[in-house]
Amino acid sequence: MKLTEKEQALLDGKHGLGIKKAMEILVALGRIYEAKEMVPVTSAQIAGVSYKNIGDPGLEFLADWANQDARVHIPAFMNPAGIDRQLWRQLGFPETFAQKQIEIIEVLKRMGVRATLTCTPYHIGIVPQKGEHIAWSESSAVSYTNSVLGARTNREGGPSALAAAFCGRTPRFGLHLHENRLATHRVLVKCKLESSADFGLLGYLVGKKAGNGIPFFQGIDLPENESERTTCLKALGAAMAASGAVALYHIESFTPEAIVYGERIVKPNAMTIEVKSANNDRAPLASNYPITQLPNYMTVSLDEARIALNHEGNQIDLVTLGCPHASLEELKEIAEIIGNHKLKKPLWIASSAIVREQARAKGVVDEIENAGGGVLADTCMVVAPLEEMGIKYIATNSAKAVTYLPSHQGAIVHFGTTEQCVQAAIKGQF
Ligand code: F3S
Repeated sequence: MKLTEKEQALLDGKHGLGIKKAMEILVALGRIYEAKEMVPVTSAQIAGVSYKNIGDPGLEFLADWANQDARVHIPAFMNPAGIDRQLWRQLGFPETFAQKQIEIIEVLKRMGVRATLTCTPYHIGIVPQKGEHIAWSESSAVSYTNSVLGARTNREGGPSALAAAFCGRTPRFGLHLHENRLATHRVLVKCKLESSADFGLLGYLVGKKAGNGIPFFQGIDLPENESERTTCLKALGAAMAASGAVALYHIESFTPEAIVYGERIVKPNAMTIEVKSANNDRAPLASNYPITQLPNYMTVSLDEARIALNHEGNQIDLVTLGCPHASLEELKEIAEIIGNHKLKKPLWIASSAIVREQARAKGVVDEIENAGGGVLADTCMVVAPLEEMGIKYIATNSAKAVTYLPSHQGAIVHFGTTEQCVQAAIKGQF
């Protein structure tokens, strides 16, 4: 791998031991993936923040690095942690867990990482441009920024994203290269998607089939309203990254690279996935490809995914929304659905501290709190210590959360639309 003079100096420890360690990680990754050189990156998003995920070994690792004077050289910001820094006591989060979590956040802050603590940085003004090289690590954020914004990032691990933040570069391989951004799967959506939950279901199905491939969607009717569209696209990407490892997708005539390259963004030997639903199958797609003659052809059903993601029964301990972290518009929508009702079961909506403050200023947080719900910042249902708090039956509108909650929290899950989930909190059962 070819290094510039400056990069060689970083590797030789001329800028301190912390930077040397970071450069060693980047060079090792570059060698493994046969990168020819480094590429400068403009921002880093750091996952592996929750004490639930990284525990004491992770905290020690970060503290050691900080003690070696490692400091970020580009804007870097944190993924959600295991607590809401304002509300953890009020919500009954365990004290020892919270203290450890605060230590982790402080160590990262000492290294210059901003405590944004969100998986939707694009809702708080961090919006990479098309073609910009970045090093982000949370899978749904990676998917959104690669696909919808057209920026370029691999799905970094926490340490490699930090290393990139310290050195301002990352090895040029994978999704930093155009030839690796071509679609491996053509997805023909032959049913109507009626809610963001449906986009999540679609993502769940496609992620299972595509694995770490790159889908090219045709036939999706995107909402005209921009904020609704964003909600749907982040649900789609988050689910594909959870049930599979999809880090990039294209949508015909919509996403930046699909617009520029058209059909050329799809590999000639791409597999075809047809998505159906018993309720609303539609007429053939406007762009009429000779799909049934293709050898690599499979059909999946939205209805089967809905059944697979839903546990029987109607018991709930908690309804949780905001995976990925909610936007201001989503919070408003939820407050509207609640209306004058009082909630019989807790409803937690995860978001960032910045969006919560915006919502508070507009009275939206009060509306939700007055009904008995809460807007949580800095954390989410997957990385908070829910299991330790005795929460078992959870309803959510997120196909990503439904994929992870059973394994991460030992939870029994119900999946529905935002409306169904809020109604479940109002009625006290799903
Ligand atoms: Fe974000 Fe947590 Fe979901 S990090 S995407 S809210 S699992």
